Amino acid sequence: MITVNTKLVGLLGFPLGHSLSSAMHNRAYQEMGLDYCYLPIEVSGEDLPVVFAAMKKMNFAGCNITIPYKEKIIPLLDELDPLAATIGAVNTVQFNDGKAKGFNTDGSGFLRSLQEEGFSLCEKKVLIFGSGGAARAIAMTLAEGGAAHITLCNRTKEKAVSLAAEINSKIRPCANAIAMERPELEKYAIEADLLVNATSVGMFPEITALPCPASCIHPHHTVADIVYNPYQTAFLQKAAQKGAKIVHGDGMLIWQGVEAFTIFTGKKPAASSMETGIRKQESGNRNQKSG
Ligand code: ATR
Repeated sequence: MITVNTKLVGLLGFPLGHSLSSAMHNRAYQEMGLDYCYLPIEVSGEDLPVVFAAMKKMNFAGCNITIPYKEKIIPLLDELDPLAATIGAVNTVQFNDGKAKGFNTDGSGFLRSLQEEGFSLCEKKVLIFGSGGAARAIAMTLAEGGAAHITLCNRTKEKAVSLAAEINSKIRPCANAIAMERPELEKYAIEADLLVNATSVGMFPEITALPCPASCIHPHHTVADIVYNPYQTAFLQKAAQKGAKIVHGDGMLIWQGVEAFTIFTGKKPAASSMETGIRKQESGNRNQKSG
């Protein structure tokens, strides 16, 4: 039951479509008996400052920020967590005494999803496909988290070059960039411990596409995908066939949500209840599409 005391949490973005976040958070509030309510709030870029200012004056504990406002929100904040400042993007905001503090839980959520599958980053070499917003949060967090080396490989090589330079100057000198071309790509792939698809390649409906040639995948790899629709992407299927260990994309979604939940409520939710919320919403979305 929603009352005047119910704490609110919002999701600010545009468009929000079939967002899974409200199902994920509300399910956990329900299971934990917390008087919170998570609301998707679709807002235009022009209205973002006024909506955000109003939320600070209301009963909001915080909000998540999604595409396309993860950078645009920064000037509207009162405080910024150091890792979020380094990444240059915010996906979680905490409201406290009328002040807004920004965090980034995307990269740390991804790292947690690796750890949950038993992967330890220490001394590991990483090859990341992509250099957009998601790749940026992941690469910066893995550099901060102690990866031995990070190679960025992107369709548009210049973006990989500039992200690698930024990691080297802001965090520590551990990154380089390569073009999406053999044989250099295959050389870095075989030396890597972890391959990460941080592009949208393989996402529904283009489900057969791979972010790199299959010849880059080897049995000693851990292979992670940030794409979670479909659950088992072509990249992960190929990796599993080759005997590599795989980490599904919904892990990042769930663990960034778990960390954001803790920032909003001060409590740790069960990842399983957030996953149940996602599954229920996904089946609802499928029924809606077919009905
Ligand atoms: P996000 O915030 O989800 O990371 P983004 O910032 O738009 O989204 O980045 C998308 C990433 O996927 C980029 O690295 C993009 O490559 P480019 O920088 O060359 O655009 C990559 N990407 C998207 N579609 C791709 C495709 N068909 N083939 C290869 N890379 C692709």
